[in-house]
Amino acid sequence: MQTSSLTALKELALQCARSAGKLSLARMKEPFTVEYKTSASDLVTAVDKEVEKHVVDMILQRYPDHGILGEESTFTGDPGKYETLWVIDPIDGTTNFVHQQINFSVSIAVYHKGEGLIGVVYDPSRDEIFHAVKGEGAYLNDQPLRLERQVHLEEALLCTSVFWNKRAEQIGIDQIVKKLAGKVRGMRLLGSAALELAYVAAGRLDGYVSLSLNAWDFGAGKIIVEEAGGRVTTMRGTPLPFDQKSSVMACNPAFYEELQHYLSMNENM
Ligand code: IPD
Ligand code: CA
Ligand code: CA
Repeated sequence: MQTSSLTALKELALQCARSAGKLSLARMKEPFTVEYKTSASDLVTAVDKEVEKHVVDMILQRYPDHGILGEESTFTGDPGKYETLWVIDPIDGTTNFVHQQINFSVSIAVYHKGEGLIGVVYDPSRDEIFHAVKGEGAYLNDQPLRLERQVHLEEALLCTSVFWNKRAEQIGIDQIVKKLAGKVRGMRLLGSAALELAYVAAGRLDGYVSLSLNAWDFGAGKIIVEEAGGRVTTMRGTPLPFDQKSSVMACNPAFYEELQHYLSMNENM
């Protein structure tokens, strides 16, 4: 893809993320409906749907021939049919949006023929925008992000939600990560996978491990971590898909092999 086209895509992705974040903040101040998707711990609000529709409209107005894979499925076409695919989560961290009014994000990625080109994660409550373009590096606002610090696993601050995942218990990965928790400096859980990945890129977290995330949770974060010099794969160490559910491990490159060794101790993953 030509540099000019890539720049135009980046500008639109950034514009969409900022506009979506602004809309979420505005709607947060007004009453909104909250529904259960599959259970009381799986929420969706009217704002998630409205914000996704807003982003889809902005994209299609400029690129009517592009496909969109969004959590709320407000795009009516078949995402599998398109060469250029936008992968979006209008509000990643809906539970935080409802309960905390912080620690949620907008996640927007552009994939072309399966290759990740652009990733944007915007935290509207702190006005922090993380973005990356393939081959051009990663940024937090205007600051370049580079994971150059050599971090040993013992010094790492890791982030995971596996302790809250029922499947983790079934396959025993919760015990492996618990063992890991005793080895690292500390464990955290923010509740927005996209933001957690962006924080790995920024060095605020040294690693992130999760089971069964959706493509829109990690699509943008993956590109941002990789462009910052980090490594991102499935927990098995295989490449991440761009359009399917997957486990995710992302970390400072200094301890990738060691972390992977821990996680691959489970053969059922
Ligand atoms: C969720 C968040 C959370 C992760 C869940 C996701 P949502 O996304 O990313 O951190 O642990 O698996 O579903 O539903 O708030 O967009
Ligand atoms: Ca999400
Ligand atoms: Ca969401």
